[in-house]
Amino acid sequence: MTLGVEKTKIALVTGGSSGIGFAIACELAAQKNSILLVSNQAAQLQQCKTEIENRYAVQCFILNIDLTLSSSAQQIFDYCTANNLETEILVNNAGMLVFSETAAAAIEKVNAILQLHIYTPTMLCCLFGAEMKSKKRGHILNVSSISSVMPYPGISLYGPTKTYLRYFTRALRSEMKEYQVNVTCLLPGATATALYDPKRINISLAKKLGVMHPSEFVASKAVKALHHRKAECIPGLANKITMWLMPLLPSFIIELINRKTNLLDKGNQSLA
Ligand SMILES: NC(=O)c1ccc[n+]([C@@H]2O[C@H](COP(=O)([O-])OP(=O)(O)OC[C@H]3O[C@@H](n4cnc5c(N)ncnc54)[C@H](OP(=O)(O)O)[C@@H]3O)[C@@H](O)[C@H]2O)c1
Repeated sequence: MTLGVEKTKIALVTGGSSGIGFAIACELAAQKNSILLVSNQAAQLQQCKTEIENRYAVQCFILNIDLTLSSSAQQIFDYCTANNLETEILVNNAGMLVFSETAAAAIEKVNAILQLHIYTPTMLCCLFGAEMKSKKRGHILNVSSISSVMPYPGISLYGPTKTYLRYFTRALRSEMKEYQVNVTCLLPGATATALYDPKRINISLAKKLGVMHPSEFVASKAVKALHHRKAECIPGLANKITMWLMPLLPSFIIELINRKTNLLDKGNQSLA
């Protein structure tokens, strides 16, 4: 009888090369998980790999792939199979911000955000979820946003795609419970990361004022929630309150603010 080669168990983090994703990868590496970082900038990935391996003495694999491609989830799954990697923790974190009227957004950006926030994470949950189901173990962490409760102008693509992810995660959680696979949704509020254009937003001031949380704070709450098999994690009291209050805001006030402030790009280009 031939014995199979033991697989390397990993935590897979999409968008793991910066911000919340990198902080989650560090948190998991500190707990002695081997890591697979997936994103689309080779040099940045290499730098993160070196940092994780030096800091936490765990193996860190990297995969440079554009997650807006419809083949990307299958490519990641095939990479894991070919390299004998078993994904014990899947973190669907990669994301982008489009701050613009939908009708003014570049069509490639519209396609990209739909693929990145909806198609690819769903496919990754299908592929790795099936593996976890058959093994009766594993964790999935999907990164939504507190804006999932805010269908507001300017984030008409961002908010609702995060709403999909939140409700998909909740339904998947119920399905996977039977197979002992945990599924958690992270709903961060404003977090100091590269998601924001520093020319438009003073990130260090926002951090000082406590309006934005550091990504390490968000990551630590997220990983704790994952291990405690929580349904949802909203880091920070103000964000929890915001999620309760925002849906109560009448739409005429939102429309008034939109008309009077002129914050949005109404021209031909997307600002994100
Ligand atoms: N920051 C916030 O205030 C906030 C609030 C709520 C929710 N979130 C969510 O948190 C998640 C992480 O965002 P972040 O704030 O940490 O921003 P970030 O620092 O910009 O990180 C986004 C990550 O996604 C990757 N990514 C983007 N487009 C990609 C693509 N086409 N293919 C592969 N990778 C891609 C980026 O990789 P590259 O750098 O290599 O492109 C990066 O690693 C996102 O889902 C975001 O929506 C953030």
